Amino acid sequence: MAQIGQSNKQRASRHHREAQHPGIELPPPSRKDRGSLTRALQRRKTVRQIAPKPLPLAILSDLLWAACGVNRRKGPFGCAGKTAASASNSQEVDVYVALAQGTYRYEPLSHRLDWLTDADFRGHALGRGQVDSGARAPVRLIFVADVDKLVHTRGYMEPGLRDPEVQRSYYYVDTGLIAAHVYLFAASAGLGAWFHHCEHSRLAAKLHLRKDQRVLFAQTVGYPARKPR
Ligand SMILES: Cc1cc2nc3c(=O)[nH]c(=O)nc-3n(C[C@H](O)[C@H](O)[C@H](O)COP(=O)(O)O)c2cc1C
Repeated sequence: MAQIGQSNKQRASRHHREAQHPGIELPPPSRKDRGSLTRALQRRKTVRQIAPKPLPLAILSDLLWAACGVNRRKGPFGCAGKTAASASNSQEVDVYVALAQGTYRYEPLSHRLDWLTDADFRGHALGRGQVDSGARAPVRLIFVADVDKLVHTRGYMEPGLRDPEVQRSYYYVDTGLIAAHVYLFAASAGLGAWFHHCEHSRLAAKLHLRKDQRVLFAQTVGYPARKPR
């Protein structure tokens, strides 16, 4: 899928990468009814003790759709609409997915995971000094703001989108909205979720991010570990 801000060279290398590493096709989101919103709100909490048990692909699919998947092909300003609101519908926060077998980027429009590397960055996405009980959790989401998507928004262009201070406020708020969906999905699906800091600069280097991409936070998701007796 062509992206704003990519040169021909970047596009060519992306196509080459896709041919070599097809990524992960997610099953279509089930849109299964997992109980009421009130029940999810009642259950929402941070769970740091997460078991290493992998998440089935169908659950990962539903989780990512809830986070920021496409819920309307025709959304505001001629772009698709997503479950999570974003400033001017710029959709500038990308969700990177760190798994044991590698690290991927969630592509909401095609509802798939684009391969980035076979390296397991779950450790860097947790960072040092965090409680380590959930260190081997199966999924760690990494929130990355792409400032280029604000500056060259496909949504509604307003002056604030070019102001660094306003940009900052927008991408932090937009991350929080996605993270809240992850918390609520986890609560409704019997999963544990935990929003936390991560190794920003190390991840930016390992993921070969551009200067105008910012690693903000991460969120761990998985099955709650059994409580110690
Ligand atoms: C912006 C933000 C940053 C956070 N950073 C961390 C963190 O680095 N490590 C951690 O263990 N929890 C972190 N948390 C989780 C909070 O500690 C947790 O949400 C808070 O204690 C309230 O608990 P609850 O989520 O169970 O209601 C963070 C939460 C937010 C919203």
